[in-house]
Order: sequence, then structure tokens, then C-alpha cells
Amino acid sequence: MAPPRLDFKRRFNSCSSATQILQDEIVEGKTVLITGGSSGIGVATVEAFANKAAHVIFTGRNVQSANDLIQKIKVTTPHAKVHFMPVDLLSLKDVRRFAEEFTNHHGTLDIVIFNAGMFGGSHVITEDGYEAAFQVNVLSQLYLLGFLKPLILKATGPRIIFVSSDWLKQTTISLSNLSEEVLSPSANSYPWRQYANSKFCQVLLSQYIQTHWGSLGVNSYSLHPGNLIATNVVRQWRLGQALAWLFKPFTKTLDQGAATTVYCAAAAELADHGGEYWADCWIAESFHGKQPKLAEAVWNLCEKMISAKVPDDYTRTSS
Ligand SMILES: NC(=O)c1ccc[n+]([C@@H]2O[C@H](COP(=O)([O-])OP(=O)(O)OC[C@H]3O[C@@H](n4cnc5c(N)ncnc54)[C@H](OP(=O)(O)O)[C@@H]3O)[C@@H](O)[C@H]2O)c1
Repeated sequence: MAPPRLDFKRRFNSCSSATQILQDEIVEGKTVLITGGSSGIGVATVEAFANKAAHVIFTGRNVQSANDLIQKIKVTTPHAKVHFMPVDLLSLKDVRRFAEEFTNHHGTLDIVIFNAGMFGGSHVITEDGYEAAFQVNVLSQLYLLGFLKPLILKATGPRIIFVSSDWLKQTTISLSNLSEEVLSPSANSYPWRQYANSKFCQVLLSQYIQTHWGSLGVNSYSLHPGNLIATNVVRQWRLGQALAWLFKPFTKTLDQGAATTVYCAAAAELADHGGEYWADCWIAESFHGKQPKLAEAVWNLCEKMISAKVPDDYTRTSS
């Protein structure tokens, strides 16, 4: 489906970097939460914002990588405000712990970047009873969003970003087959299909947010960062690792991989263009278009799946 025409000139492309994009944007003093900042594209995203005087909080599990990143940033930007807060997205209990700690320390949240992601190798069921990739990529980050919503609504022109993937083209989700079992299969499933379904759900959640929170001043964007960027995302998939290694000379660098994320999060001209899907720093063809009914159904089902596993006081994020 052809994307809507934009009423401004294209400034960046597939070769642009996150650093370059932030050169002319003012992000100083903005509070930015980046999930999965301890590795890959997230590292470049953290660096770009921290070096431009934003207040950056990033998450992940690998404390050593996170500390190394902070040290690296402090060399170029000694007064950078950059903090690491660990969280394991495989556990809703840990997400809640993290969210409570985060909301105790921060009053306002200008930008949230849901960048953390995994491509599962073997079929794994989490302690909450869900397929691991779906829980990490979708359920845990949606659960987190519920806690963050009050902080987001306190910001001026807040933005929510979902780092999705063009793999979503392989999705098997539709209105006619939507079920908990399709989203989170209890038995063996193809990892690429699980990944595609979770990435498609991210786009749908972004569309839902735009529809329901847009009038509250929130803008939500989903995006494809690039193909086969050499990161750890396929750490559990040998063939993927080999492909990423083979294609490394021809694919985007990490700074280029973070470019569309940073563009959606900070570019002034996108202030009224939430709800769209982006790639190479421009609006992209959306393979499945806008699907408000499916977006609503996926949102509601995900919330039901979360509610079933967490304490009764969980307030619906859509409320
Ligand atoms: N690389 C590509 O070509 C490509 C293409 C399309 C889309 N993407 C998307 O880009 C995003 C960034 O991925 P990447 O390529 O940079 O991969 P990456 O190097 O593996 O980074 C993924 C990040 O997510 C975090 N993460 C994964 N599982 C987690 C868990 N259970 N709990 C908490 N954090 C977790 C990782 O933290 P730890 O390492 O600390 O566990 C890491 O910081 C993902 O959403 C991915 O789907 C990547």
C-alpha cells in the first residue's frame, strides 16, 4: 500500500547516520528511555542522544556492556547524563520492578524507544507461560508502557517509537485467525514466523496508540532500521549470524541503523506524522496498511494476556 505523501522535503536517506540527524535537532534536557541500549543499534541510539545532552536512560541485561558504553560516552561528552537500568524482558515481574523504580525516579518522559528485541532460536516458554520472542518484543514492552503512560502524558509533544522490522511481511496474523495461540504458540514454531508476528504486532500497537492517544498529544512511530545489520539480534540463530557476517561490508553501520529511530524520535517535521511506518529516514510502504480493527484486537488480546499473569492492580494501558 502506497504511503501518504509528505508535505516537506526529504533531508536524509539510507546512508544517513543518527549522529548526523541529531546535529540540527534540539534534544537537550529531554528525557529519553531506550530499551535494549546495551547492544547493537541501541548502543548507537544511546550515544547519539547522550552526546547531544539529552537525559538518557537505557536498559538491557548485560551490565558490563552497559558500563563500557557509559565510559565510552563520557570520554567524548564528560557531562553526559546517561544511566543504565537493567531489566529482563523475559519476566513480567522484573518489568514491574523496573517500572516502579523508573517511575519513582522520573517525573516526565519525552521519548520512549522500544528498541529491545530478540530473534528466538529454539522454542522457549518464559516463566509467565508465553513464547519468549513474543514476550520480549511485545508483551513486556506493552506492560512497561502502561506504567510509563502517566509520565509520557506529562511531557510536551511526547513520542513513542517501536523498532520493528521488514520481516513483518512474513506475518501470519490476521483478524480471522487472531488468538493467543497464534501470538504465543505453546508448541514448536518457526522462529522467523514468531519474529515476524511480533514485529507486525509492534506496528499495530503503534497504530493503536496513535488512534487512541493522539488526541492526548502523543505521537507514535514504527520503523524498519535496515537489513542484516551486524548486531547480536540473531545470537541464537547460526545461519543468521553467518549471513550478518557475510553481508557486513554491504549493510548499514550501527550509527546508520539507528538513524531512522532517531529521526522518528527527534525530527521537528515529524511532529504531526505519528502512526506511520518508516524506513531509511522516510515514510515507507506499509505492507499491511493501516488496520484499525486488527490493531484494536491485538492490543486488547495482549492486554488480556498480560492481565492474566500480573497482580490485580494492573491498570489497563488504554484506560
Ligand atoms: N540487526 C538488524 O538487522 C535488525 C533488522 C530489523 C530490525 N531489528 C530490530 O532492531 C532492534 C535492535 O536489535 P539489534 O539488531 O541491535 O540486536 P541486539 O544487538 O541483539 O540488541 C538487542 C537489545 O535488546 C536487549 N534484549 C534482548 N533480549 C532482552 C531481554 N530478555 N531483556 C532485556 N533486554 C533484552 C539486548 O540486551 P542484552 O544484550 O543486554 O541482553 C540488547 O540491548 C530489535 O528490536 C530488532 O528486532 C534489527
